[in-house]
Amino acid sequence: MAISHVNIAIDGPAGAGKSTAARGLADALNIHILDSGALFRAFALRALRRGADLTDADAVEKALDGATLDIKAEADGQRTILDGEDVSQAIRTPEVAAGASAIGAIPYVRNVLTQQVRKIAAQLSVVVDGRDIGTAMLPQADFKFFLTATPEERARRRYEEQRAKGNEQPYEEVLQGIKKRDHFDANRSIAPLKQAQDAFVIDSTEMDAESVIATMLSIIEGK
Ligand code: DC
Repeated sequence: MAISHVNIAIDGPAGAGKSTAARGLADALNIHILDSGALFRAFALRALRRGADLTDADAVEKALDGATLDIKAEADGQRTILDGEDVSQAIRTPEVAAGASAIGAIPYVRNVLTQQVRKIAAQLSVVVDGRDIGTAMLPQADFKFFLTATPEERARRRYEEQRAKGNEQPYEEVLQGIKKRDHFDANRSIAPLKQAQDAFVIDSTEMDAESVIATMLSIIEGK
């Protein structure tokens, strides 16, 4: 299918399969991918390294002063570059995930990252995954998906993913972490996780990644 410029938003809670779906769509449509959560994680990492209290908006803003954030597309996905350092691995820890969720509630952080996402999306055909892409960051996206699954299934996927990497975090702990983040992301007053009215909702609890991607593609291609 010939697409000149397209923006696709995939929102949903942690572990719903957004990044796998985003990668599948980007490959099938030959467009770019932008993992917006990685940007929040990179900012959280900088603030954590500087010892800021992540619930203190002023302290976080100060810790982020002068930060540079870039993304690079590589064959195996997005590389996230913070102040010239490739932090793609360093941002994948439970501590940074919780920190990203905390700073996601700070208006300054959301404004800076929203501008960055909009700039990239204006230049490139891109599939962006996050929490508020279809509602706040890119409300004009051409296609919006809200991907969800039960907390237990999402925790099971995260648990398996971590175990494959050699991280033995107990399932119950992963589940609690997911529930806590869901609650925080959905209840914050600024840009909470919620589905856009014009989003296609896909519950992936009983679907594998291939069927999720095929469902999205059939919607995009208007089948
Ligand atoms: O998708 P992720 O797990 O990498 O995101 C980490 C946290 O970043 C998530 O819990 C909330 C925050 N986030 C956000 O507030 N808005 C986004 N568009 C993406 C992520």
